[in-house]
Amino acid sequence: MGLRRTVLTVTAALVATATTAAPAVAIVGGKDTAAGAYPAVTYVSIGGSAVCSGTLVAPTTVLTAGHCGSLTGELLATPIGYPPSAIQVTIGAETPGGPGERIPVAAVVIPPSYLNTQGSDVTLLRLEHPATTKPVAIAGRGEESLWAAGTPALIVGFGATKEGGALAPHLQEATVPVVADATCASDYPGAFDASTQLCAGYPQGGTDSCQGDSGGPLFGHRPDGSLVVVGSTSNGDGCARAGKPGIYARVADRVLREWIRGVDGAAVDADVTPPAPTPAPAPRVTCTSHRVVTVTVRRAYRTRLRSGEVLVGGRRIATLRRGRLSARVSLIGRPKGVTRVKLVLRLTNGRRVVDTRAYRICGG
Ligand code: ARG
Repeated sequence: MGLRRTVLTVTAALVATATTAAPAVAIVGGKDTAAGAYPAVTYVSIGGSAVCSGTLVAPTTVLTAGHCGSLTGELLATPIGYPPSAIQVTIGAETPGGPGERIPVAAVVIPPSYLNTQGSDVTLLRLEHPATTKPVAIAGRGEESLWAAGTPALIVGFGATKEGGALAPHLQEATVPVVADATCASDYPGAFDASTQLCAGYPQGGTDSCQGDSGGPLFGHRPDGSLVVVGSTSNGDGCARAGKPGIYARVADRVLREWIRGVDGAAVDADVTPPAPTPAPAPRVTCTSHRVVTVTVRRAYRTRLRSGEVLVGGRRIATLRRGRLSARVSLIGRPKGVTRVKLVLRLTNGRRVVDTRAYRICGG
């Protein structure tokens, strides 16, 4: 529990420093985001004095950290949300307090598990009306590979640019590799909950989220190049220290993803069902002494056959139909060993069946 620090960064002093700060290297070890690069990233200000980051994950929902939405935060274990009016969100902001889409918060929703586990550090801010900004949703079931250990992920936020430092004067981004759960568990003995937390960072440190980044996105990169939310900045021992990766809410994994889906189904992208493994049973190899074999449509399909073809090595060598139920296949000149013959049949009920045979010349 020691990890759960008081996180709500008091900005008054920080902003003063920030405005005079040298050009930012921030999050820690990051850089300024390009104009318009992350329109769904949200500036979250609480009671006018504390800052968090967030992401518009659905038209009416901003994802931020549990400790950004809970009045008692980590100090007192009660799920009292801030009064919605105390929280201001600016969607698409690129500087603290800068322009963006501002929508009043209608409700602050905190998972009950936030209180009785190490993790579950998320809050959903329900907006009074839908944003016009395009959201970036949370990855659906079946996208675990986007946050597999070693995978580069992108952090974005308004947080401090060094441990104990000032908020960034401009939104920051950096890339950090996802850390294996076992490594994170040993980096944070007894304080890591792999069901609702995820770690990212370099073993040597140097690049990390920091105070004020809480609730901001850890984006995964889809194969098509688009971004999807896989984590939300939560915690860490200091910032960017070696052997102390950043801890993120594991929002795209079972527990939090399904809780979030229950609050707002639009906040989670469609499940990606992994392609069903189709272990085509290897056909029994028929041993024949003939150089030419006759393949015949099985009895079960004969009366229901509309059309079909015979393929050898992917090439069509004959067509089939009701009046022509067999074809002759020469095994001569085929690559050594087994010749596979595929009967692709279309049945009268519209079904397509594939019947594979295999022959090997032996004897004779
Ligand atoms: N809890 C912090 C916040 O409220 C974020 C800390 C992240 N720390 C880290 N080392 N990654 O902004």
